[in-house]
Amino acid sequence: MRLGIFGTGYVGLVTSVCFAELGHSVVAMDKDSDVVTRLSDGALTIYEPGLQELLRSNLRAERLSFTTDAGEALDSAEVVFLCVGTPSRSDGRADLSQVEQVVRGIAPLVDGYKLIVEKSTVPVNTAYCIDRAIRQLGVEAECEVASNPEFLREGSAVHDFLHPDRIVIGADSERARGLLLELYQHDFGCPILVTSVKMAELIKHTANAFLATKISFINMVADLCEKVGGDVDTIARGIGLDHRIGTHFLRAGLGFGGSCFGKDLKAFVRIADEAGVDFALLREVEKINTSRVDALLKKLDQALWVLRDKTVGVLGVAFKDNTDDIREAPSLRIIPRLLESGVTLRIYDPQAAGKLATLYPADEQLTYVESAYEASRGAHALLVLTEWEEFQSLDFACVRSLMRTPVIVDGRNLFEAGRMRKHGFEYYSLGRGDAILERATG
Ligand code: UDX
Repeated sequence: MRLGIFGTGYVGLVTSVCFAELGHSVVAMDKDSDVVTRLSDGALTIYEPGLQELLRSNLRAERLSFTTDAGEALDSAEVVFLCVGTPSRSDGRADLSQVEQVVRGIAPLVDGYKLIVEKSTVPVNTAYCIDRAIRQLGVEAECEVASNPEFLREGSAVHDFLHPDRIVIGADSERARGLLLELYQHDFGCPILVTSVKMAELIKHTANAFLATKISFINMVADLCEKVGGDVDTIARGIGLDHRIGTHFLRAGLGFGGSCFGKDLKAFVRIADEAGVDFALLREVEKINTSRVDALLKKLDQALWVLRDKTVGVLGVAFKDNTDDIREAPSLRIIPRLLESGVTLRIYDPQAAGKLATLYPADEQLTYVESAYEASRGAHALLVLTEWEEFQSLDFACVRSLMRTPVIVDGRNLFEAGRMRKHGFEYYSLGRGDAILERATG
C-alpha cells in the first residue's frame, strides 16, 4: 500500500521505516529540511537500536523516501498517518497545534479518498475534531479519520513495532477498517483489536496511565520498604509472579521520564476533569513520581554530608537505557540542583551526553567524559541515573580505586547491594533496606 506519514520524530520515523520494511511504499514528510536531508542520506536523527540498517536498506529498495512537501507525501497515498508531537500545554491538556497544522496543510491538497490515521497519542474525540476541521476547510472528497495507536518503547522501538503484543485499529466504517486490516496483513502473531475510533483513542491513554501507575505503585512500596526494612525487588517478584499482576513495570527507582508518560498522564487527568470525573489516582501517580528525585538527592546528601566542593560522577542522563532521549529525564531535575549545591560533576552517558551538553555546556564545574571509569576518577560518589546495561559489567575494583571515597547512590537499583559492599562501597539504592542494613552492619 502507499502511505504518507507526517512527522519523523521517534514514532513517525520508526513507523515509516518499519512499514517500508513490511513492503509498503512510504513517503514521510517533515517540515524540517535538515532532518529530511539527513534521513534521505540514510543518517539517523535519533539513536534507536536496529533502525539504522532498516533505514538504509529501505531507502536503497526505494520503498521509503523523505520530503518537506506535504503534497508529495499525500500524492496517491490512500492512508495518511499523523505522527507529529502532542506535547503538554501549561494547563496539562495536550497541545494539538501540530496535528491541526498538518490537517490545515493537507486539506487543500486532498483530491480523492484519504484515510487519515492518528498514530500519536491524542485525547479522546480528536478524530471528531480532525474530521470537522477538514469539512470546515472545504474538503469535499470523501475523507475519514481513524486511530491506530502506537505502543512502541524507545530503545526497543523496532522490535516493538515488528513484534507487538497487540494491534489496535479504531475505525468507524467498513472501508476504513478494511484498509487498516489490509495494512496489517503481515503475520504479527498477535491479536488485532478492531474497535471504534473513540475506543482506540481511549485505549492508548489508558495504557500509558496504567503503566505509569504500576511504576508509582512500586515506588511507594519502595518507600515503605525503607521504613520497615523490606526489599522492594523481592516484593516485586513476589507479586509479579501472579499472572494477574505480571512482572513488568515493577522496577522501583527514580521513576518514569520520557516524552510520553508525564504528558499523557496530565492530559488524561484533564480529559477526566472536563468530563466531570475526578481521577485523583493519576494525580497521585504523578506526585509520587516527582518526589523520587528528592528521595534520591536526600540519600546523596546524607552520604556525602556536605555537598559543596564534592565531586560526583553521574552514570547516565537519558530517561531510560538504549536511547539518547533526555526529555523529562530525572537527570534534568537533578543536575541543576547539584550544580546549585556547589558540586562538581563528571558526567557519562553512552548516548545522551551530547543532548545534555546543549543545555548544560561543559565548564569548570561540569565535565563530560567518555566512560564510567572516567566519571569515577576523583569522585566522592557515583550517582546512577539511567539503567544502561553496560554499567552492570563494570570492573568495580577499578571503579573503587579511581574514586576518592567509595560511595554509590543508585537511582535505578541496578546493582546487588551485597556485591557492592564486598567491593568496599557504601551503597545506597531505593527501597531495598539499605538504611536498615547500614544500621545493622554499622
Ligand atoms: C512508553 C510506553 O511504554 C509505550 O508503550 C508508549 O508508546 C510510549 O511511552 P517509553 O517512554 O519509550 O514508552 O519507555 P518505557 O520503557 O515505557 O519507560 C518509561 C519510563 O519508565 C523510563 O524512564 C523508565 O526508566 C521508567 N520505568 C520503566 C521504571 O521506572 N520502572 C519500570 O519498571 C519500567
